[in-house]
Amino acid sequence: MATQTSGGPVYDSVLDAVGATPLVRLGRIVPDGGAPVWVKTEGTNPGGSVKDRAAVAMVRAAEESGALRHGGTIVEGTSGNTGVGLAMVAAARGYRAVLVVPDRTTPEKIALLRAYGAEVVTTPGLVPKQDPRHVQQLAARIAAETPGGWLADQYGNPANPDVHEHTTGPEIWTQTGGRVTHLVAGAGTGGTVTGAGRYLSARGVQVVAADPWTSRYGGGDGSPYAVEAVGHYLHPLTETDTWPAVYDTAVPNRTERVDDGESLRTLRRLAREEGLLVGGSGGLAVAAALRVSAQAGPDGLVVAVLPDSGRIYLSRYFDDARLRTLGFLDAPQGPLVRDAVGPYEPGLRVAPATATVAEVRAGLGDGPLPDLVPVVQPRTTDATTWAVPDVVGCVRVAELAGLAADDRVGAHAGPPPVTVGHGEGLDEALTRLDADGVGSGDPVLVLVDGRAVTQVHRSDLRR
Ligand SMILES: Cc1ncc(COP(=O)(O)O)c(C=O)c1O
Repeated sequence: MATQTSGGPVYDSVLDAVGATPLVRLGRIVPDGGAPVWVKTEGTNPGGSVKDRAAVAMVRAAEESGALRHGGTIVEGTSGNTGVGLAMVAAARGYRAVLVVPDRTTPEKIALLRAYGAEVVTTPGLVPKQDPRHVQQLAARIAAETPGGWLADQYGNPANPDVHEHTTGPEIWTQTGGRVTHLVAGAGTGGTVTGAGRYLSARGVQVVAADPWTSRYGGGDGSPYAVEAVGHYLHPLTETDTWPAVYDTAVPNRTERVDDGESLRTLRRLAREEGLLVGGSGGLAVAAALRVSAQAGPDGLVVAVLPDSGRIYLSRYFDDARLRTLGFLDAPQGPLVRDAVGPYEPGLRVAPATATVAEVRAGLGDGPLPDLVPVVQPRTTDATTWAVPDVVGCVRVAELAGLAADDRVGAHAGPPPVTVGHGEGLDEALTRLDADGVGSGDPVLVLVDGRAVTQVHRSDLRR
């Protein structure tokens, strides 16, 4: 319940402060002649993200149906914003919360969940979906075995998309006075784009799903990407690629696929040119929205959903030195690594960890052999993990001959090779390689936007 005053609303509970988020007109980064782009700032929700809406709605629905009772325990598998939302709701409503998170979850995120009083259970993030240790499998088991346990199940719970149909969509319609022509939103569970999209498309609005380039949703190969919490990974050992039941893929009229480099550069422009500090999925959505704006022209009105704030991603998306080593940013001054590397043939040969030694040998073909073959493997089925660079190890070509033909290369992979970003300052890169004891004949992988593109020797990196 809220009491309206001229100074703003007064709420009985923090949960009543969820939703009714501001729309902000982008001022400086919209293309000339394009449609205005307005952004829905979901990071202003009290738990910090769009997932507060789903968390409150799922708990209310469970209370109404009797699935969650006084003294009960809320259980969910998530390292992300849904966990924070559920931890907040549990605290405000007096429930116990048990959240299962992958072991690579940052200590800050675990601390955030615990700060709300939630119990955190960690489990390996590197396992296929059918494995009983998988985040979602383990959460389901804990919910079933805990007396009074209730699994929120954001991927299958209809209250998730419904809340967006009843709140996010109508808010956007009202805030734009019915003038919105395009909605752009990323899809994690798909709740936002399905629910808000349903409401708005019934009013003639075009719905555009923004998707990381390699995500399965938009037709990518399912390999990892840097933008967290949206899109759909495919672990190579996952037997059945199931998509969330709540994502109605018939709702979006189309998908805009955006690579990590464009998402990250847009996110950084949002912070520096618009004063909007948002997470990776906000950069993705705005990158797609800027394209939609250019296509729609001045008569359109594009609304993009910014799901959360950038504060919890400072060490990922806003650490310039780190982004340079990953090949996302250029050093302010040359010479750069790419000046020394020169042109390279596209199509660096890499081996999935699941490939056999015989397959890798056959894949090398004729011609000059590289020193090593980078081994790549999606690191997790969980969509909340920084997963670049995508190289997880390497096998030395000279050693392949001594290995059994049907062994998997993943079992023989050594540590990942040394990497440099193609836009990293050459001196900066060489200092780093020296500190790591890389010898002049040692192989070095060059990264562009977090992905290995070519292999050189340390001795090739000369001014
Ligand atoms: C930062 C962020 N962006 C986007 C999403 C995707 O929202 P949805 O699950 O409604 O598709 C999430 C979901 O957790 C999120 O945490």
